[in-house]
Amino acid sequence: MSDPLLNAVAGDSPARPSFALDSTYRTRAAELDAADPLAHVRERFLLPAGVIYLDGNSLGALPAAVPEALNDAVHRQWGTDLIRSWNANGWWEAPTRIGDTIGTLVGAAPGQVVCGDSTSVQIFNAVAGALRLRPGRTVVLADPDSFPTDLYLTESVADLLGAKVRRVPVAELPAALRAEGDAVAAIAYNHVDYRSGALRDLRGLTAAAHDAGALTIWDLCHSAGALPVDLDANDVDIAVGCSYKYLSGGPGAPAFIYVAARHIAGFAPALTGWHGHANPFGMEAGYAPAPGIERARIGTPPLLSMLALEAALGAYEGVDMRAVRTKSLALTDLFIECVGALGLETLTPAEHALRGSQVAVRHSEPHAVMSALIDRGVIGDVRPPDVLRFGFNPLYVGYADVVESVRILGDILETGAYKDARYAVRATVT
Ligand SMILES: Cc1ncc(COP(=O)(O)O)c(C=O)c1O
Repeated sequence: MSDPLLNAVAGDSPARPSFALDSTYRTRAAELDAADPLAHVRERFLLPAGVIYLDGNSLGALPAAVPEALNDAVHRQWGTDLIRSWNANGWWEAPTRIGDTIGTLVGAAPGQVVCGDSTSVQIFNAVAGALRLRPGRTVVLADPDSFPTDLYLTESVADLLGAKVRRVPVAELPAALRAEGDAVAAIAYNHVDYRSGALRDLRGLTAAAHDAGALTIWDLCHSAGALPVDLDANDVDIAVGCSYKYLSGGPGAPAFIYVAARHIAGFAPALTGWHGHANPFGMEAGYAPAPGIERARIGTPPLLSMLALEAALGAYEGVDMRAVRTKSLALTDLFIECVGALGLETLTPAEHALRGSQVAVRHSEPHAVMSALIDRGVIGDVRPPDVLRFGFNPLYVGYADVVESVRILGDILETGAYKDARYAVRATVT
């Protein structure tokens, strides 16, 4: 089929750069889709027709099993079984049951993950727990490029517990650990940089922290469900993550915390809620932590969101995280190549070992370009000052989506469509 843009001859006007893609990209994409072992998984999601969804790194698409699960949770469990659901429908155990399921996706054996609250809350508990596990050490090294909430919470907890946070760029972290390791209680880093999509060396940095006697707190928001994390195998101490991005748990879905089995007995949460008590229905006046990972529970969890998340996680049934990683790299390779062919600059590392599952493209007018893209059915997002962010969830994004999204991007740039006045207005959420 002939496509005027795909087949465009470079430059109608010689002065204007061409943003058109060669038609061979579409052929290649069709071949890759035909050979994709994960292609069938897309049917497990309800995506609207005409939308290419490249924002699953911000809010995952709706898994097909969720509406029915929520219907059951509301009508049968809440409406009919009422309070009996805590026992009869497994509500009480949901945080650890769902935690264990998340554990299978991030390489954690059962009994080390609790699901609940927000990532921000879990970061608070994680940092406090790490500081208490390393008494006498008063420094937390944190990534200046972290998602802001990580820094806000880490500094707040450090302040409360009389510790200090030093912001150390990830490239300087090994040297900082060698220089002042004795004082460092923990390092707190994002596994994948939310802006550039750079993947950090979780194994190497964890080992470097351990050499200095420090613990690791990894934020897995942009890696859980997108690539193998292998928490146990990599000897990670503590990790947190959200479930509304790649895990597709839904808006405001509960986060999770991982505490390695070897630390659980000494993990003293700062947020000592009654659900983490050793005997919650004893209604005792004093706090005593549960012996297991249950001590990382806080208060009554948002059950409707939890049950939606549990149904969403069913989309990973039979899916090998290594196959997800292979496809993620192939999708982002193709996207990087296509945007490169348009002459655009990407911030995301080309090297596979350094790349998560998103690609950041630089443009001086990202808001306008993204608004124009969204109008044409390609949904990504924007991060200041100049980043167009595109996330690739291999469970529902295909290779043809990649080529088509870049074709539309090229068209918007070529025609200057993004300069239309209506794209100058910025939405609250970008
Ligand atoms: C790395 C990272 N940490 C934390 C958060 C947000 O935390 P919360 O779920 O508490 O809003 C985000 C949100 O995008 C994130 O990217």
